[in-house]
Amino acid sequence: MAILLDMTRTHVPVLAGELIDILDPHPGDTAIDCTFGAGGHARLVAERLGASGTLVCIDRDPVAAQRFDEFAAEVPCETRFLAMEFSEGLRLLREEGLHVDLAYLDLGVSSMQLDAWERGFSYSYDAPLDMRMDPDQELDAREVVNEWDERRLANAFRSYGDERFARQIAREIVKRRRKAPLETTSELVDAIRAAIPAPVQREFGRGHPAKRVFQAIRIVVNDELGSLDQALPLAWDVLRPGGRLGVISFHSLEDRRAKRFIADRGRGCICPPDLPVCVCGRTPEAEVLTSRAVVPTPGEIADNPRAKSAKLRAARKVDA
Ligand SMILES: C[S@@+](CC[C@H](N)C(=O)[O-])C[C@H]1O[C@@H](n2cnc3c(N)ncnc32)[C@H](O)[C@@H]1O
Repeated sequence: MAILLDMTRTHVPVLAGELIDILDPHPGDTAIDCTFGAGGHARLVAERLGASGTLVCIDRDPVAAQRFDEFAAEVPCETRFLAMEFSEGLRLLREEGLHVDLAYLDLGVSSMQLDAWERGFSYSYDAPLDMRMDPDQELDAREVVNEWDERRLANAFRSYGDERFARQIAREIVKRRRKAPLETTSELVDAIRAAIPAPVQREFGRGHPAKRVFQAIRIVVNDELGSLDQALPLAWDVLRPGGRLGVISFHSLEDRRAKRFIADRGRGCICPPDLPVCVCGRTPEAEVLTSRAVVPTPGEIADNPRAKSAKLRAARKVDA
């Protein structure tokens, strides 16, 4: 599928001021933006890095790659783009021996992706079941919806969407696809609606009954949790001592991973408490910069409702 670059579609960066305050980019620093998107965070970072700084941007979506060209021409620092999955990009940078002052990830999908109706990320538009961030990837939403067995679908809806009617929705999808494969987002929305009791649907108010299932399928199609698990240690490896890592997440399972990753590195001695002296010799690798997750202000949420579930966690790599 050809993906159009529509400059009217844009993305408002979330927790942008907070990310900059905490990661504190300096003139001449080297930074990695692992999730370039529309370059909202990258632009703020690039301005801080100035002409002597370097910013490496990564994104697996070709629309982000197209946006990058315009961005690179406008910002003062040296730039480079890696059109690939971020853990692959970080591995490549580590192999090149790059050491950076800051690295950050702003997870999930961009508004540009959600608003590109033809890509099937949104339940609000009728489109082919796709949801791939990287359109060259094989697995798409159509395959998940039509080929995964009922139990696997239900598990995904429950685990990644917190969907209370996971089993019923999975059963309805399997029943419908026996007659003909589900091809479009509207067919999927119809199946979801048919599986959720009408009185419950009325409770959704302005919410959408398909929101959780769409989120779950998107996470599965793009292996979002697996990518994050691989990326965090790689990003940590490329940080030089004193370097800062920031993670903005939109899902509790992502936030839990970021929180645990940072807490593990921030922990010193792990000897049993009844030992009189430390025998493990372990010292903290990280200074935790966010003792609790930083969340958007009510004002930011009012201006940009997509910020609602965002959480930022950050850490500094301590000097060896
Ligand atoms: C929330 S948006 C980032 C928006 C960006 N910070 C901005 O201010 O414009 C997330 C971006 O990360 C990309 N992305 C998500 N997971 C990725 C992964 N595993 N590898 C590479 N890119 C990824 C998506 O394609 C999307 O463009």
